Amino acid sequence: MIPISVPLLDEEEKQAILEVIDSRRLAQGPRVAAFEKAFAEFCGTQYAIATSSGTTALQTAVLALGIGPGDEVITSPFTFIASANAVLFAGAKPVFVDIDERTYNMNPGLIEAAITPRTKAILPVHLFGHPCDIEAIMAIAARHSLAVIEDACQAHGATVEGRKVGTFGVGCFSFYPTKNITTAEGGIITTDDAELADRAQLLRNHGQRERYYHETIGYNFRMTEIQAAIGSVQLHKIKQFTAARRANAAYLTARLEGVITPYEAPGYRHVYHQYVIRVPEGRDELAGHLRRHGVATGIYYPLPVHKQVAYQRLGYTDHLPVAEKVSSEVLSLPVHPALTPEDLDRIVQGVNSRWS
Ligand SMILES: Cc1ncc(COP(=O)(O)O)c(C=O)c1O
Repeated sequence: MIPISVPLLDEEEKQAILEVIDSRRLAQGPRVAAFEKAFAEFCGTQYAIATSSGTTALQTAVLALGIGPGDEVITSPFTFIASANAVLFAGAKPVFVDIDERTYNMNPGLIEAAITPRTKAILPVHLFGHPCDIEAIMAIAARHSLAVIEDACQAHGATVEGRKVGTFGVGCFSFYPTKNITTAEGGIITTDDAELADRAQLLRNHGQRERYYHETIGYNFRMTEIQAAIGSVQLHKIKQFTAARRANAAYLTARLEGVITPYEAPGYRHVYHQYVIRVPEGRDELAGHLRRHGVATGIYYPLPVHKQVAYQRLGYTDHLPVAEKVSSEVLSLPVHPALTPEDLDRIVQGVNSRWS
């Protein structure tokens, strides 16, 4: 079976892990600092603050911006639930606006109608590796004095007019094993704002600048030295990984028939964390057909966040027609860098033979 994703680790990562073990320094230390420096350079930001996951990166960013009870944050309903949960964890309220049907990202044309006196920030997601319309979102945020938190958990290295995501607002990335690069679990915040970086560093480490002197209430959201060692090796490979994802996506797009292939907006660079097709009729049958053909698929996401039981219990009654429609039509095909030419042909044959 061709897997939907596979983390690519080899001797280099193994060696890096062994070096950490030999050093006897396991908790946040010089390797985390080195990984932060390298990731900040990769993105082009002044600061990067490593965390234990993408979720804790988002949570730390929300808290570092001073968002709390009574505040609202506008976000996308079509995402992994952590994007919105990060707002709830701070005691604030996620407010959902519908998405664009081609990019699956927040529709900026709907944001201003959702702004209230309680709105403090916009939290767009660069879903599947395609940047959201971040320039339009930054302009709206500037007009209304709102902060912007970019959920770039799926979009390492994606660009808009050559500028990397995570450099427009406060960036949050994930290094979960399925992501374009991994640290096993892990996350990172990117910013040019020295004060925000300082608050984020305090929040992720129990509010201590100096050991056992706590100037604020914080958390243990630290990354370990083992995670950072893996991450530094992976970061060296990101260019090659992204090129392979883009080449695989181009190959599929040129050959797939009878389905809606992913859109890449002019001036945007998609990094294909997911290769998502739309199948308006018979999505689940196609997934079954592909499974029998030896191709694993995924559905990201079968239910928008506002429709999740957990959110229904909170009283969300929104009707967001585009997010609701696409969640019943999307299907992710394998696009990861480990695919062979034979794998790609099997995926194409599987999709194109579905009705035969
Ligand atoms: C869009 C999005 N936001 C947030 C997260 C949370 O990241 P993590 O799983 O590292 O906590 C993920 C990844 O799982 C994600 O895909």
